[in-house]
Amino acid sequence: MPSTRLGDNWTLDEMRQSEQSDRDRVSSEQAVAETFDRWVTDGMAAGMERRHRRLAERMLDRVAISTNGCLLDVGCGNGWLARLIVDRVPEAAVVGIDVSREMVHQARLDCADLASVMFAPGAAEEIPWAEEYFTHVMSIESAYYWRDPAKAALEIFRVSKPGGTFHILINYYEENRFSAGWDTETGLTLHRLSAADWVALFATAGFEEVISDQIPDDSPISPGKSPEAKARRQGLQDIGALYVTGRRSKAKGSADLQARVDPGLFRILR
Ligand SMILES: C[S@@+](CC[C@H](N)C(=O)[O-])C[C@H]1O[C@@H](n2cnc3c(N)ncnc32)[C@H](O)[C@@H]1O
Repeated sequence: MPSTRLGDNWTLDEMRQSEQSDRDRVSSEQAVAETFDRWVTDGMAAGMERRHRRLAERMLDRVAISTNGCLLDVGCGNGWLARLIVDRVPEAAVVGIDVSREMVHQARLDCADLASVMFAPGAAEEIPWAEEYFTHVMSIESAYYWRDPAKAALEIFRVSKPGGTFHILINYYEENRFSAGWDTETGLTLHRLSAADWVALFATAGFEEVISDQIPDDSPISPGKSPEAKARRQGLQDIGALYVTGRRSKAKGSADLQARVDPGLFRILR
């Protein structure tokens, strides 16, 4: 049976059995980290909340976070999502990780007054946390930067509690023609996968009830753009961000994890 083709380059099997060494991945991750470090030092990071907040609100409207919710934000940037979450559910705890140390530093500064929020450097592909911990794993506008999305999906599965859910939101995906070209603009290699590809990736990692949807962004376009840039932004917002979500089975619990993750890994965290 032919395997699912992901983006232009990889099949799902190829991604899972990637020959790219961890050394290569970590070194290409450095280019991403340096790009986002510069976003902080150049003052561009501040615009992320303005651009992504409305989408995040619309996503959070769909998620039931209980008072004992324990959330992970992967690619947290300067940490504004954690603030938004604890504004809604003050009893929740949020951990944010990011490969950009400048982003992590900014997040820690901006959220220093929040006792139930913390940030740490870390990659989606090697989440520095014990298994079966988080009730929700979220990620906004980060997944297409991940060096190895298949590995990241397995990691998200590993750290999710049985019954826990994941929630990914991205504007850069195959069906959204208005984001084509972001790889050239950022100078980074990005993963332009389709909605079906992302669903397959997380289903293969072990999640159940994996579905996708598109969430339009009804926030006003910021002034000062050229007519072309304005039309492009409006098109992007109208098509909407790709939302991918799914649940880790409650019933299978640890047995499901052992079948998927090398038990030798992470023993140090037990
Ligand atoms: C466009 S920013 C979005 C930040 C934030 N989620 C927001 O919506 O404002 C993408 C973030 O993902 C981070 N990132 C990229 N690849 C990552 C990876 N493999 N693991 C963790 N974070 C990553 C970047 O450093 C950057 O801070």
